[in-house]
Formats: sequence, C-alpha cells, structure tokens
Amino acid sequence: MAKYRKKIVAGNWKMNLSIAEATELASSVARGLAEVREVDVVLCPPFTALGAVGDAISGGSIKLGAQNMYWEKDGAFTGEISAAMLRGLFCRYVILGHSERRTHFGDTDEVVNRKVRTALESSLEPIVCVGESLEQREAGETNEVLEAQLRASLADLGADYGKVIVAYEPVWAIGSGLTAAPAQAQDAHAWIRSVVGEIAGSEVADSLRIQYGGSVKADNARELMSQADVDGALVGGASLESRSFVEIVRAGVPND
Ligand code: PGA
Repeated sequence: MAKYRKKIVAGNWKMNLSIAEATELASSVARGLAEVREVDVVLCPPFTALGAVGDAISGGSIKLGAQNMYWEKDGAFTGEISAAMLRGLFCRYVILGHSERRTHFGDTDEVVNRKVRTALESSLEPIVCVGESLEQREAGETNEVLEAQLRASLADLGADYGKVIVAYEPVWAIGSGLTAAPAQAQDAHAWIRSVVGEIAGSEVADSLRIQYGGSVKADNARELMSQADVDGALVGGASLESRSFVEIVRAGVPND
C-alpha cells in the first residue's frame, strides 16, 4: 500500500506584482480556496510583498513562502535576506535552487546546500528545485543530472530530511509552454524518490513530497498530479491569475 502524501501546490510569483496587486491576488486566491483543506497551498510573492500577502492570508490555511534567501545569519551582505527575516514575516517555506537562480545568479549545488541547511536550522521548509536542461535530456543524462543535483543539494541534512520538499522542474518546461508528459514527469519523480531513498532512507523517501513544475496550467494539472509520484505542483505563470491557480489547487484535491 503506497503511502498517502498530502499534495502541496505553491505559486511562485517570481519578480512580478506591486504590493497592491499582490495583496489583491492573495485575497482573491484565499476567497477561492476558503473551503479547500485537502491540499497544502503556498504563496511565494517577491520579498517586497511578503508582509502584505502575509496579512492578506492570515487566519486562513494558505501558507507563505519566499523565493530565495541567503545562508548567513546576519552581517555585511548588502542586498541579501536572512532566514530569520523570513521567519519574522511568518514565512514557512522557501524555494531554493530554482533554475532561474542557478542560471542567472550562480546558485550552484553547493550554494543551494548551504541555503537548505540554514533554512532547516531556522525552521523553514525548503522547496528544493532540481531539473535537467533540454540538451541534457536529449543526451540521455536526465537521471544522472537529477542524482548529482540531489546528492549535492541535500548533503548532510542530518535528522531534517523529512522537512524537505523537492520540486522537479525540467528547465525546458519552465515558462516555455512545454510541459513534461505525465509519464515523463512520473519517471523523473520515481527516480528522484529512489535517489532520496539512497541518501536518506526509505521512510523519508516514502513521505517525501515531490512537486512538478514547468508550465503547469489548469488544463494539465489534474493529469500531472494523478501520477503516483507527483505530489503537487510549483506553478509560475499560471499562479499570477487567481482563477487558474485556484483551479490548479482544486485539481489536486483527491477524488474531486
Ligand atoms: P512556469 O514556472 O509555471 O511559468 O513554467 C514554473 C517555475 O518556474 O516554478
């Protein structure tokens, strides 16, 4: 009997929305999902809107997440944001190692690992992103790439492996309108689960929630999330519109 894993759907708003727009979107999503308890829902606005979105969703079941953080606790790191600062804004989750951070801002696996360890020490639950490029997929290197990213990004987490969420985001599917076929996603997710089993043991692997990300939309979310090892979604573009994000979350409700 496979383990039940509650689905988790997160909206990654990236570098979009003013504070007023973010507040309005968060309020609208909260209204749309007021009755939904069967899926964990996370909103990840830009840093500037974390406070306002936190206020807009307070008292409900939607949780707040950040899109990045720095690994040091405090000090002379101009422009950076610490885990404690995020906790102070009532963030519970933080996205780490997103491919846009890896590509544009030099976040290596080692950097991601440092951030993951600091996040866990600070009681933030990291959503750790991994995924292959198109060239790597076409060269048959997908499994190898995912394994290397997982082993390095999730090194030395001690007793905290159970608090990690992994997001499988094939780089070629992000923002491109190309989605992994459900079977492709399932294969990658099953592989990720087996690698995490080797790193952290089968109990952790069985409970690990693995989100799929990359052009998730209202019309493909249900099929993707019905795959055995797909435990939710990390949604970019379609999370910027209340109606499509609400529909995606609803697609994750069991037997809905
Ligand atoms: P997308 O982004 O849904 O716009 O493809 C996903 C992500 O980058 O997390």
